[in-house]
Amino acid sequence: MAWWHGAVFYQIYPRSFHDTNGDGVGDIKGIIEKLDYLEWLGVDALWISPVFPSPMADFGYDVSDYCDVDPVFGSLADMDQLISDAHTRGMRVIIDWVPNHTSEEHLWFQESRSSRENPRRDWYIWRDANPDGSLPNNWLSSWNNEPDWTLDPTTGQYYLHCFLPQQPDLNWANINVRRAMADTLRFWLNRGIDGFRMDVIHLIGKDPALPDDPEDLLFVGHVPLNDVPETHAYLKEIREVLKEYPGDRVSVGEVYLLEPEAVATYYGERDELDLSFNFMSLLTPWRAQSWHELIHRTETAHLRAEAWPTWVLSNHDNQRVASRLNGDPTRIRSAALLLLSLRGTPFVYQGEELGLLNGDIPPERVVDPGSRDGCRTPMPWNVAYPHGWSGEPWLPFAADADRFAVELQHEDSGSYLSFFRQMLLLRRSTEALRWGGLTALRVDGDLLSYQRFVGDQFVTVYVNFSREPVVLDHHDRPVLMRSGDDWSSSSRELAPSEAIIFC
Ligand code: NOJ
Repeated sequence: MAWWHGAVFYQIYPRSFHDTNGDGVGDIKGIIEKLDYLEWLGVDALWISPVFPSPMADFGYDVSDYCDVDPVFGSLADMDQLISDAHTRGMRVIIDWVPNHTSEEHLWFQESRSSRENPRRDWYIWRDANPDGSLPNNWLSSWNNEPDWTLDPTTGQYYLHCFLPQQPDLNWANINVRRAMADTLRFWLNRGIDGFRMDVIHLIGKDPALPDDPEDLLFVGHVPLNDVPETHAYLKEIREVLKEYPGDRVSVGEVYLLEPEAVATYYGERDELDLSFNFMSLLTPWRAQSWHELIHRTETAHLRAEAWPTWVLSNHDNQRVASRLNGDPTRIRSAALLLLSLRGTPFVYQGEELGLLNGDIPPERVVDPGSRDGCRTPMPWNVAYPHGWSGEPWLPFAADADRFAVELQHEDSGSYLSFFRQMLLLRRSTEALRWGGLTALRVDGDLLSYQRFVGDQFVTVYVNFSREPVVLDHHDRPVLMRSGDDWSSSSRELAPSEAIIFC
């Protein structure tokens, strides 16, 4: 087992984490200042969303230089310090790597678009219009159903962009692109980074014929449909680069394919990704049958591939889990108990440990082209406005930010934050939860149950998805943790929506 099998990752969206220079945008020094908090919380590894130089059309997922830091976030020296200070505390750090596309302001694209003869022309995907004047194919953007092609007047050809026109897709079929991108990995590996979250990695390979998407699936956009053999060959090369370095550097792929069986193929024969996101958990309704099916399918597909699953309930692209569960306190605690007791590496998104809700963004404050501002509202550190920021931040706070503030919850042993921390501590100290297998997965009406085990150590988890209490009087084992209002209760009755772990 490698360190990342047993780790809990904490995703930091730097713009909204902690600001130290008063410009309303979080920065790397802000992350460094909060390392004590993260250590106290008990997470093992940090995933830092992009801090590279960027015109910020997609808030950093449009990179104009992979080997530097945008001044709004700080400097390379700040990143070096963050890595070193985290390591001193026994925490690992991974960064986002955005291989599918660059910013249109990246030097490579500037050169590529300058003429059809430019040596970097083929670094991006250029096509003529069809003879009838129509676009090269029917691919649409998942965000706004606009075409994935933009005409560049200088050379009269279209370029491909699976996201914004400001994010042209790189041509991974070109060996020089692959070599250049491998060097961007080495740049950060040489600085001591522990690995990468790889943005929409399943998109880097393209069917060379660029065939039309099926008409009846156009509404989903091209991104969740791109699943081609080319990508697997590139992933093997990428793995070789990481393995040039000691210390089990990890790759975590954002494979936005909405089937666990498809996701599992991106681990290859343990020669592609180390880990991959499995986003069905963000979309699965809070129902015992649905979760049973998802866990069953995930376990089956990943065991077959000898792959270690991941679990996630929130991130910077999706509505926060607390909002999906309508702010119901017991359900939110049960969701955390589920996340942190399944087999696989859990990913926690900043603010999730506070039970933070999505923000309602007034129209004049909307900044994201993909309508995701609501899950990116700033962390409320202190109770009093501006909640530990030096003024109004780049996005407004979610409603009731004072109620969720770290300062308030930190001192309250009955708070959601204290519950979350206890769950993290329990996972860290219980081998079966951290590294163990999963067995005895069952659904009985609205009651989901499973066991985690290592050797002869077993723990048993029940999640009551119903609005009715459930009695588990056949259990004589002590309670390790429960998500009801009184976590120290040894009652055998599960309250509505309550979850429990027996040792
Ligand atoms: C997935 C990232 O999570 C999202 O924030 C970004 O907009 C797209 N990839 C494009 O890079």
